[in-house]
Amino acid sequence: MTRYKVGCLVGSLAKDSINRKLAKALARLAPPELELSEIPFGDLPLYSYDYDADYPRVARDFKGAISDSDAILFVSPEYNRSIPGALKNAIDWASRPYGSNAFTRKPTAVIGASIGSIGTAIAQQHLKGVLAFCNAPLMNSPEAYIQFTPGLVTDDGEVTVESTEEFLRNFMAEFALFIGRVTTVLPRER
Ligand code: FNR
Repeated sequence: MTRYKVGCLVGSLAKDSINRKLAKALARLAPPELELSEIPFGDLPLYSYDYDADYPRVARDFKGAISDSDAILFVSPEYNRSIPGALKNAIDWASRPYGSNAFTRKPTAVIGASIGSIGTAIAQQHLKGVLAFCNAPLMNSPEAYIQFTPGLVTDDGEVTVESTEEFLRNFMAEFALFIGRVTTVLPRER
């Protein structure tokens, strides 16, 4: 069995983030070939190309963690019908300096939870456009728009609704297949 290291970017910095709970659930429900770990980015300064000649340590570590991952899972809220600024800032850091974009050829998937009924659909459309520009192969199907009702996922990442749990388990199984397909045709340069 080939194992894959999946870096998880949780788009929220909030301590009680529902998307972090969702990310914990996804880590529990993932098939054994996927090893998920969150790559934090809350300490990154705001990106400017003035840093390109000499990235600060925190940004080098962050970008290094993206590079070291076999795949990236985005679990993000929708803020004002788009992706949170902190997440966009993190993507900008990892995509630069020009010519050393850490997302190139990196298999990705996008999922998100909101309290609203469209479940981050518009933010996901924006994020998918960004990832296309970053040349990151994206799992198009299944899509996953999660409306977070109170108690849907516990603080420890246990899903309390069986149909949702099954849906999320399938999402992760499909992501594992997708990563396998992408890395077969686009082997990682190590
Ligand atoms: C929101 N929320 C929200 N929800 C939504 O479905 N669409 C949206 O555009 C927005 N916009 C928005 C902007 C800002 C600045 C905040 C703080 C919140 C509500 C959002 O779904 C809710 O706060 C979730 O709890 C956010 O997810 P995290 O941060 O808890 O993971």
